[in-house]
Amino acid sequence: MTGGGRPPEWWRDAVLYQIYVRSFADGNGDGVGDLPGIRSRLPYLRELGVDGIWLTPFYPSPGHDHGYDVSDYCDVDPAFGTLADFDAMIADAHDLGLRVIVDIVPNHTSSEHEWFRNAIADPSHPHRKRYVFRPGRDGGPPTGWTSAFGGPAWTLDEASGEWYLHFFAPQQPDLDWHNPEVQEEFERILRFWLDRGVDGFRVDVAHALFKDRDFPPMVEPVPRPWHGDWLVALLQPELHDLYRRWRAIADEYEGDRMYVGEIVIENQERVAQYVRPDEMQLAFNFALLFAEWDAADIRGVIDRTRSALGAVGAPATWVFENHDVTRLPTRYGGGMEGLRRARAAALLLLALPGTAFVYEGQELGLEEVGLPDEVRQDPIFFRTNGRRLGRDGCRVPVPWEGGPPAFGFTSGPPWLPMPADWEELTVAAQTGEEGSTLELFRAALAARPRGEEFAWRESPPGTLVFARGDLVCAVNVTAERLELPEGELVVASNELRAGALPPGTAAWVRTDGSRAKETA
Ligand code: GLC
Repeated sequence: MTGGGRPPEWWRDAVLYQIYVRSFADGNGDGVGDLPGIRSRLPYLRELGVDGIWLTPFYPSPGHDHGYDVSDYCDVDPAFGTLADFDAMIADAHDLGLRVIVDIVPNHTSSEHEWFRNAIADPSHPHRKRYVFRPGRDGGPPTGWTSAFGGPAWTLDEASGEWYLHFFAPQQPDLDWHNPEVQEEFERILRFWLDRGVDGFRVDVAHALFKDRDFPPMVEPVPRPWHGDWLVALLQPELHDLYRRWRAIADEYEGDRMYVGEIVIENQERVAQYVRPDEMQLAFNFALLFAEWDAADIRGVIDRTRSALGAVGAPATWVFENHDVTRLPTRYGGGMEGLRRARAAALLLLALPGTAFVYEGQELGLEEVGLPDEVRQDPIFFRTNGRRLGRDGCRVPVPWEGGPPAFGFTSGPPWLPMPADWEELTVAAQTGEEGSTLELFRAALAARPRGEEFAWRESPPGTLVFARGDLVCAVNVTAERLELPEGELVVASNELRAGALPPGTAAWVRTDGSRAKETA
């Protein structure tokens, strides 16, 4: 794929660090993270050893879904700074050798977006056709579709008597991607940010833009939240041409600009259809994120992913955490045990071939925060009457230094309360501290294998061992013990016991290059 003596594209084995902008670093003391805050912490990311950052939406937004309800795609929300702050931040990032990708939210706008305001104010306004309005049926909504955030996916526009579609909150009306105007507008938006120097885009709900015009019934029950294989009306064939056009736009620019699609389905064969050579370069792979701490499960995910994506020449991507899911140590049981497993998973994540995503705070071993109901903000919590707690617990701001209430995140009151016992988890407390999760990430990022070589090695049930060239990654998932492979120990996620890996422990070992025991 690299052909013609060109260096391999940077995104093929990059580590991208996800910045949830509200929660990363606050530069002006209003308790909300912002672009100047990010800029001030770029040296930390450089030193951590990641290749680039992905910023969640920082565009003007009423904030019903914290920025995923965009009211202007070509500006910066005053809460996060200005376009000049963006330019200064990206210039510094590039000087430090960090790539910058930004989130693009094409499935829906904010209900405060000028287009939607026009559409509601006057049903004959041309902007009405940029959204999905339909007459109701039997006095109710046009279909029984439910929103991913709970409740119906249709809201009545009382003035006209028609209903509009929203897969998420009612403040996030879905665009009609069959309308060529919508397509043109987004091409303009992509160019706006490409001209400003972004290295790529993370495409929000990339599988959902076109809806089946017949609006077939959804298959219920929804197996798991955020699990989209059931959405029969999505994944429409029109997406491929759209992403081909988007790819051609990115390819007009120097520097391997890229797209990573959020395609919320587990089946990697289906995901692979979107990352064929002339479509998006990458798609998130949520299969590891849904997998249990179980060696056979994880191995199955790795094999299926590699074979499905290898077939189209795209690199695999690996994700354990993001701003939509419960923090990994908590998913793995919480406490010391959960953290131990999450640290082992970090060595797995950073040893696998392809592109890895690290979510802010993952490198600190943060757990999900149990928040009181009164401070919760996620629309999921409200639209399900608290049945689903929502995602606030993984969005609590990053602790940088010192103590409560704000641990150096802000000089004001943090927008979500931070646990008083985070003192030992701050960046400052973990820096230089032997055995800390932060130092584990730093060591692994410095020694991370690059390239595509990968081979399983035989190993007992409950364990995973594979070689990346002369680096061997051994993970004892649940077995009683796993002998450390021969060679020089590079990094271990926890202490070894009598020279072997106890359960929930991983290690990287540098061999002399002999690979006698490899299996294909
Ligand atoms: C994506 C985002 C999520 C957001 C949703 C609606 O899944 O990751 O945070 O709420 O899209 O835009």
